[in-house]
Amino acid sequence: MKAIKVREDIYWVGAIDWTIRNFHGYNTGRGTTYGAYLIVDDKITLIDTVKAEYTDEMLSRIRDVVPLEDIDIIISNHVEMDHSGALPGIRKHCPNAAVYTSGPSGVKGLTAHYGADQYIPVKSGDRISIGKRSLSFVATPMLHWPDNMITYCPEERILFSNDAFGQHLATSERFDDELSLSVTLEEAKRYYGNIIMCYGRQAQEAWKTVSSLEPEMIAPSHGIIWRKHIKEILDAYRLWSENTPPGNAVVVYDSMWHSTEKMAKVIAEAFADCGMSARLYDLKGNHYSNIIPELLTSKYIAVGSPTLNSQMMPLVSSFLCYLKGLSPKDRQAFAFGSYGWSGQGIDQVESALVECGFHICMEKIRINYIPSQEQLDEIYSKVVNMIGNETKQ
Ligand code: FEO
Repeated sequence: MKAIKVREDIYWVGAIDWTIRNFHGYNTGRGTTYGAYLIVDDKITLIDTVKAEYTDEMLSRIRDVVPLEDIDIIISNHVEMDHSGALPGIRKHCPNAAVYTSGPSGVKGLTAHYGADQYIPVKSGDRISIGKRSLSFVATPMLHWPDNMITYCPEERILFSNDAFGQHLATSERFDDELSLSVTLEEAKRYYGNIIMCYGRQAQEAWKTVSSLEPEMIAPSHGIIWRKHIKEILDAYRLWSENTPPGNAVVVYDSMWHSTEKMAKVIAEAFADCGMSARLYDLKGNHYSNIIPELLTSKYIAVGSPTLNSQMMPLVSSFLCYLKGLSPKDRQAFAFGSYGWSGQGIDQVESALVECGFHICMEKIRINYIPSQEQLDEIYSKVVNMIGNETKQ
């Protein structure tokens, strides 16, 4: 397999994972890539590796440029195995290469995964020379593991950003100007929502640091390389990490006999009639990880469930479990649902929304069996009034 030239003497030597559709619960409908980068300078440097099962693909791309034995330096920006899994495979060929990692967290993580080695910890501000070029490091802890860091080459103004600014997107194209920007930004938003959203403060710090570097190229370890639309991806990260969503609304539900669905539709209509952009998701037809990114740009979330054997519906439970780990701050939420004789499911939804850290902006709405038109009208009015009261505050 061939290396892909990024700049003179700089190559993408990663792997394309066309088939992956589930990344730790995240529906990766367009597959992904694992980005590794080779810099041929006085010291030949490999930045990040790939998932273990793609070791041979990475090695063949490196061999397209240099013998594996010639690698002098390996930079591990992130311990997670989609980026470090091929480390043992490359180390066999260059056992004397220096392996730089992010401080004690990186050393601890690599040791736990691959055994003790001569890992060299680096911290923010450290800089190494590799010949005509240098590489400096910026720790980005909890973006999204404790060990994350990014590596910057000031002479080339290229940022090797690892997970940050990435997208789960398998393509033969490698650069943002070779692909539809709307697709790439959509996948960047899905990536941010499902991986980074809960670390908004850290993302905001990273955005500030990266913006101050004024990179000409951002080379993440998932998806395409940003070289034309740097402003667009930085603006998007600023917006998402600022966590000041416009007054949009997401209505998410499961339904058994369409009663909760009728409620969901009238709730979405009320939000829309108040001038908000409203989105309605039936969990039977929408994977929860496709809904999560909507929270980045929504102030309100309404979640509905009927009650099945004294429980909320399983799909609603899964959605709320996933959401709890990712919850953005300062969102307004309420629960709703129809029920037959007990209705605990609606209480459970509300409790889960509280556990997500959301502010309950309206008392939960419960309808016995089938909502009448009068009851639907009442639900509509309640939502409109709630929005009106919120707006006045
Ligand atoms: Fe792409 Fe956190 O690994």
